[in-house]
Amino acid sequence: MTQLPGLLDTEAIRKDFPILDRQVHDGRKLVYLDNAATSQKPRQVLDALSEYYERYNANVHRGVHVLAEEATALYEGARDKVAAFINAPSRDEVIFTKNASESLNLVANMLGWADEPYRVDSETEIVITEMEHHSNIVPWQLLSQRTGAKLKWFGLTDEGRLDLSNIDEIITEKTKIVSFVLVSNILGTVNPVEAIVRRAQEVGALVLIDASQAAPHMPLDVQALQADFVAFTGHKMCGPTGIGVLWGRQELLEDLPPFLGGGEMIETVSMHSSTYAPAPHKFEAGTPPIAQAVGLGAAIDYLSSIGMDKILAHEHALTEYAVKKLGEVPDLRIIGPTTAEDRGAAISFTLGDIHPHDVGQVLDEQGIAVRVGHHCARPVCLRYGIPATTRASFYLYSTPAEIDALVDGLEHVRNFFG
Ligand code: ALA
Repeated sequence: MTQLPGLLDTEAIRKDFPILDRQVHDGRKLVYLDNAATSQKPRQVLDALSEYYERYNANVHRGVHVLAEEATALYEGARDKVAAFINAPSRDEVIFTKNASESLNLVANMLGWADEPYRVDSETEIVITEMEHHSNIVPWQLLSQRTGAKLKWFGLTDEGRLDLSNIDEIITEKTKIVSFVLVSNILGTVNPVEAIVRRAQEVGALVLIDASQAAPHMPLDVQALQADFVAFTGHKMCGPTGIGVLWGRQELLEDLPPFLGGGEMIETVSMHSSTYAPAPHKFEAGTPPIAQAVGLGAAIDYLSSIGMDKILAHEHALTEYAVKKLGEVPDLRIIGPTTAEDRGAAISFTLGDIHPHDVGQVLDEQGIAVRVGHHCARPVCLRYGIPATTRASFYLYSTPAEIDALVDGLEHVRNFFG
């Protein structure tokens, strides 16, 4: 068995994930390499979810009975766990949403409805990058169409990194918001946050970081990032679907308007007007995803018990091994950085002129789950002149043997298609 320095004890970890024992296609061992799409869930998270529904289920914040108080304590306890996990200065800076897309849309709408000095209008500019997930492109296109603000973006280098050579022309005195991904879901690139934040701060622009592919895989410190907002989702980090997070600086959350109106987010309501609860509740209209938040809290406990620095080291070792092994497959072209430096554990590639959907299907027949398509990042495929990619992505339970299985599987794909 291949041993690499820095690997976690995957034999022990995999026992926590019942689904990893599954067989598919008549007895083939499941090789799950679609972790950038969603991670699997450990028993500890599954237990927390069923325990919540079996013992505590009630609506939060509004009941005086025991279950309502216990459910509220669990929900708010999950907020404390998220705050500690990302080193937020205050728990009140953690807003629960349903996913990262909602978190990103929330910021776009806060700014769209804001007064000066935050308002985005036809005199101002929005900056994103060409490697964004659609969820960090479309909300800004909508805002730009609604307000007349100009949408600008950083392009990509041939090796899949941000081209910051014209940073002073892209981020200018007119820039209101710079929104970019920390780790690309398609290219795997880890972006140079410091340089972008420094320039944004020079011109007084706000910074939003999409950390969806970072929070599951590396220590995340919102204070060190020096951003104004950070968004991520629970289901990619061992938590359930239906729960996302927006972290925002407290003074901004106090100043900016809510987007969704409804119960829970108000202080008083009359038929003429309303006043709002303080953040984070101002941004959490309606019954929130209570069980999902509790599940995310359990996922954070689980990841923290292993250690995010150890998870990062494990994935780095796997990525180094995978780029080397994939680099030896004839006709395989990695779309994105071809070394493990400043790259995450999602690796996209093409295989000769075999369509990625065919690659994915033949791999699936061998029990190997990868993702194919444009990965909700179609501008990246356009930039590199390809219709789609095959993407393998790893997590804390992934093993070198699974990378070997992928490489063998690709050999089979090549033989199959002649
Ligand atoms: N955004 C998820 C991915 O990249 C679904 O696969």
